Amino acid sequence: MPVESRFLALLGPPMSGKGTQAARLTQLLGIPQISSGDLFRDNIKNQTNLGLEAKKYMDRGDLVPDEVTIGMVKERLHREDCLRGALLDGFPRTIPQAEALDEILVGVDASLAVVISVAVPEDVLVERACGRRICRTCGQSYHLKFGPPKAPGICDEDGGELYQRNDDKPETVRQRLEVYQAQTSPLVEFYRARGILQEVNGDQTIDDVADDIRQAVNEL
Ligand code: AP5
Ligand code: MG
Repeated sequence: MPVESRFLALLGPPMSGKGTQAARLTQLLGIPQISSGDLFRDNIKNQTNLGLEAKKYMDRGDLVPDEVTIGMVKERLHREDCLRGALLDGFPRTIPQAEALDEILVGVDASLAVVISVAVPEDVLVERACGRRICRTCGQSYHLKFGPPKAPGICDEDGGELYQRNDDKPETVRQRLEVYQAQTSPLVEFYRARGILQEVNGDQTIDDVADDIRQAVNEL
């Protein structure tokens, strides 16, 4: 992959494994993971105005408005650690966000090299939501059944406390899935038409999905 094009994005429904795979891929590529959901959760934890605004939407399972989201991601992408690129996790999620991302990247003389679309059937997504636990300090995802921590309730990476996300309740998960279909899934065609979409079957073991993603990235 050319050095100037190390901007990648992971696209997929809630619980498709974007965060799990992003954590592995950033280690491999040596670029930071930029998760819009994690940025919002950091803002909520720090009780910033942006966090208070975002929380209203996130608790309902709706998308945070584009102007808020785009401004936050733009600021993050302009920090020094993104000079060599970044792996976007959960952004863009609407066509206006995708267009804004193009502009942001043109501004730093770059473009999106690849969008990895992770596909998982809906019933599997709902099962994953129920068992997910997240580290309060580093944000690492675990699953009680499919990817448990070594010691119950404790993060393998940094010993942080594991918790269940507010929006992983069944009714909010359903809303998030509907929002994905209505507002985010059109991005699959958007990026396919541009010739930078790589589709990966996310309904396999975490290691097998990681192998397929590595292969898709190596083919660039
Ligand atoms: P965000 O935090 O991005 O949530 P999401 O898209 O709903 O995705 P998740 O984080 O729930 O799932 P994931 O794909 O990362 O899966 P994970 O690896 O954790 O967004 C939250 C909210 O913020 C949104 O609802 C919205 O309000 C707002 N927001 C964020 N970005 C926005 C944007 N761009 N615009 C507007 N609003 C925005 O895996 C899930 C579980 O499954 C884990 O337990 C994991 O261990 C397990 N698992 C993973 N892979 C496998 C596998 N292969 N087999 C079995 N289990 C697996
Ligand atoms: Mg995530």
